[in-house]
Amino acid sequence: MVKKNACVFISGEGSNLKNLLKRSRDYNFPISIKLVVSNNPEAKGLNFAKKYSIPCLIVNTSFRFFETGVLNYLKKYRINIICLAGYMKVISKKFLKSFNNQVINIHPSLLPKFKGLNTFKRILDKKEIKTGCTVHFVNEKLDGGRIIAQKSFYITINSNVSDLKKRTQVLEHIAYPEAIIKIFRANY
Ligand code: GRF
Repeated sequence: MVKKNACVFISGEGSNLKNLLKRSRDYNFPISIKLVVSNNPEAKGLNFAKKYSIPCLIVNTSFRFFETGVLNYLKKYRINIICLAGYMKVISKKFLKSFNNQVINIHPSLLPKFKGLNTFKRILDKKEIKTGCTVHFVNEKLDGGRIIAQKSFYITINSNVSDLKKRTQVLEHIAYPEAIIKIFRANY
């Protein structure tokens, strides 16, 4: 199968990057990760990229024209899709347009509920009975693009932020690859 070229944007731990790198080794997984972009030179996730010998680009988001630089790299590596995986910066409308809106993200809640940061604490404060994760297309609205896949679980009594994070991430590592398969197999 001819795989599409993907770029993963990270800022921190990189557990989703690690999982996607592992999955993309399967001959029938639709993407091959060609580039990793991080706004944080200390991101732990960069170690996974190194382990898999994937080129990494560290960006300085306070530099006004950094997005133009990133776009040049995306062209150089013939990137077809960007997967945001814990990338903590907002992508500009101009960038999305230049890249033809082929940007997807994973968010640790059942969108449209709990957009934005501090998700787990807000979920617990609201005494939700169910939560999960969502993979969605990125548009100019924060966590507002079309939903591709969701996975959920019931919250147990006495759950804390750390439990919720752990259980959500287990589902994220299933949902993200599934969403990517869905996009390319079903021409979503
Ligand atoms: C994930 O929980 C994702 O939902 C959110 O950021 C976290 C990134 O985790 N957007 P990791 O860096 O992939 O471990």
